[in-house]
Amino acid sequence: MKAVLFEEFGPADKVLRIVRDAPEPVLGDSDILIEVKATSVNPIDCAVRSGYGSAFFLRNGLMRMPLIPGRDIAGIVNRVGEKVTKFKPGDAVYAGVPNFATAALAGVNEDWVASKPTNLTFAEAAALPYAALTAWTALVDVVGLSPETARGKRIIIPRGAGGVGSFAIQLMKAWGAHVASICSTRNVELVKSLGADVVVDYTKDDFADLLQEYDVAFDTAFDTEEKLLGALKTNAGAHYVSIVTPRFQFIDKYGLDEGQKHGDAFLAQRKAEQEALGRRYDWCFMRPNGEALAIIAKLVEAGQIRPVIDSVYTMENLAEAHQRCETKQARGKIVIDVTP
Ligand SMILES: NC(=O)c1ccc[n+]([C@@H]2O[C@H](COP(=O)([O-])OP(=O)(O)OC[C@H]3O[C@@H](n4cnc5c(N)ncnc54)[C@H](OP(=O)(O)O)[C@@H]3O)[C@@H](O)[C@H]2O)c1
Repeated sequence: MKAVLFEEFGPADKVLRIVRDAPEPVLGDSDILIEVKATSVNPIDCAVRSGYGSAFFLRNGLMRMPLIPGRDIAGIVNRVGEKVTKFKPGDAVYAGVPNFATAALAGVNEDWVASKPTNLTFAEAAALPYAALTAWTALVDVVGLSPETARGKRIIIPRGAGGVGSFAIQLMKAWGAHVASICSTRNVELVKSLGADVVVDYTKDDFADLLQEYDVAFDTAFDTEEKLLGALKTNAGAHYVSIVTPRFQFIDKYGLDEGQKHGDAFLAQRKAEQEALGRRYDWCFMRPNGEALAIIAKLVEAGQIRPVIDSVYTMENLAEAHQRCETKQARGKIVIDVTP
């Protein structure tokens, strides 16, 4: 099948290679074979292609070479495994997966898949799953927010124009929270249009001076932890959750075993410090979740959430799409049209 893959770590234009003879996925009993119509680029794709966290991924079986990158899928069900009950050939679906999406076909466990929002094209639908499920894992699974508990909560979401931030703002607004976001001047209007109640332009103001007494800080940037913690309420169960965990940096610096120990010690120390202030502190990684994608599809169909698309590329120019992601300038998602 047609796919883009890499066999060694390095710059996008040196290591990404398009092939027509990649082996088709082996389908398990609970898997669905999806004809991929579109995928997207997430910052983690570029980081992994560069070798970031490779010791962890390789040893834990989360990666093998050659690797087909891509963590979003929008497409059509081609075939289903014997035990699949929720989908049938011809269904339009979307999913967030750990790699393997920049290919003509992908095999995905049915529990990771949901019906595609009916009002979105495949390209639009591919802009959502991985970023949306990252926000869902942090805000719903870890912090415990729901349509009932989010109402009236004061939440800070930095990088509001990014793939994760742009979705998180819309989900929290759909559930009735008060949202403050942070971005650069060029993104202020976009972030306001997503529903943020307060938008801080970090090129003009320091958000530490403006944001106080918040209930939740969803950290999507590497340099905001200290200020976000300072913006949280004390002794009121406020929650800091980060998706930019320093775990891989520790692993890259100290090696796999020592790095994990350093990461665990750092996390335990931070948890204890924040617990003493009556707060909770967590790091998390995206978890695949078809049930969450089904709820998100309903919110999209109701007009409460829309994908934000920065640009669309083809499989042939995936390297340019990775380079665009590496500029850190993308507003919303970089989508890849996966046509035969
Ligand atoms: N733990 C997990 O499972 C998980 C999953 C997904 C993503 N992540 C991480 O979460 C972060 C956000 O992901 P995303 O997909 O939302 O990113 P993204 O779409 O690439 O974010 C792009 C936006 O971030 C802002 N930005 C400013 N400085 C930046 C910098 N130094 N690096 C990157 N972006 C910068 C820019 O907006 P302004 O010009 O307005 O600043 C830009 O429009 C990334 O670091 C990613 O690796 C973690």
